[in-house]
Amino acid sequence: MRRNKISIIGAGNVGATAAHWAASKELGDIVLVDIVEGVPQGKSLDLAQSGPVEGFDARITGTNGYAETEGSDVVIITAGAPRKPGMSRDDLFNIGLNAVTACTKEVTKYSPNAVLIVVSNPLDAMTYAAWKTSGFAPNRVVGMAGVLDTARFRTFLAWELGCSVEDVFAFVLGGHGDTMVPLPRYSSMAGIPITKLLPKEKIDAIVTRTQNGGAEIVALLKTGSAYYAPGAAAVQMAESILKDKRRVLPCAAYCNKEYGVGGYFVGVPAVLGRNGVEKVVEIDLEADERAALGKSISAVKELCAKIK
Ligand code: NAI
Ligand code: 2OP
Repeated sequence: MRRNKISIIGAGNVGATAAHWAASKELGDIVLVDIVEGVPQGKSLDLAQSGPVEGFDARITGTNGYAETEGSDVVIITAGAPRKPGMSRDDLFNIGLNAVTACTKEVTKYSPNAVLIVVSNPLDAMTYAAWKTSGFAPNRVVGMAGVLDTARFRTFLAWELGCSVEDVFAFVLGGHGDTMVPLPRYSSMAGIPITKLLPKEKIDAIVTRTQNGGAEIVALLKTGSAYYAPGAAAVQMAESILKDKRRVLPCAAYCNKEYGVGGYFVGVPAVLGRNGVEKVVEIDLEADERAALGKSISAVKELCAKIK
């Protein structure tokens, strides 16, 4: 039986961590690509040697080229550079655009049928750039941000509620930036709306912490940004695609008529299956939520306007 093949471009913190989660879940064989010589090879060898200890079988290859990525089912793009304290995700625009454009050209040559999961920042604009460069149908390009932002929201809510993170469900819409829109009305503990369980001030504080969740970690790490949760989030999306699980996950999906976006990638609930984004799920929004989403979409469009 042919195993699934997952290529991960960028063998830095997020890429290597995604490789780790994907290998431990036995999602398929993994190819780790980077421009720095030795790094993808060294990390792949090291990760492969954890297989006998952890008990997983996956062929893990590190390379500086793309021939080894041929025929990938899913490609996770993490090429770029992380934020430093004081930088916004948008400050990464030029670095991200050069890296994402260069690697998308190569990836699509060798894996014309893959689904691309973009992680590089600024996320929504880089997903748009990957789509434009790839020439792929929009359903086969998707950005990872909502799963991470939602995971942060769920973690903070679970701590406040004193319950398992597994029993907290939450939604975050919009771009992966300061304008993201956590939605308390659609967030619950085992189906009970959090608006009935926590006072408004507590929820507002958690919403603000979620919006600043990436910056909080950058300020602590000082030399880079988050990678455990981002790696896990990208792999959850890859798993839903590879196994055609059709999980409903918040991710940067192409929206035209949906949410009135008009042809851009923004964070929305989407069904992820073997074809990538199988469907964008539309939910009713109240006036203030719609206004916040509109602001977030405008910020995404402004950045995308810089992409030729
Ligand atoms: P990192 O610096 O640890 O790794 C980036 C890797 O990309 C480096 O090893 C670098 O050599 C490589 N690279 C650069 N240009 C390349 C190219 N053209 N082809 C192949 N490899 C290339 O950075 P980290 O922490 O892994 O973050 C990666 C990206 O993911 C950043 O843009 C970061 O902002 C973004 N990110 C996005 C998140 C999201 O929620 N969407 C969450 C966390 C990080
Ligand atoms: C994060 O939210 C840096 O976008 C990345 O952690």
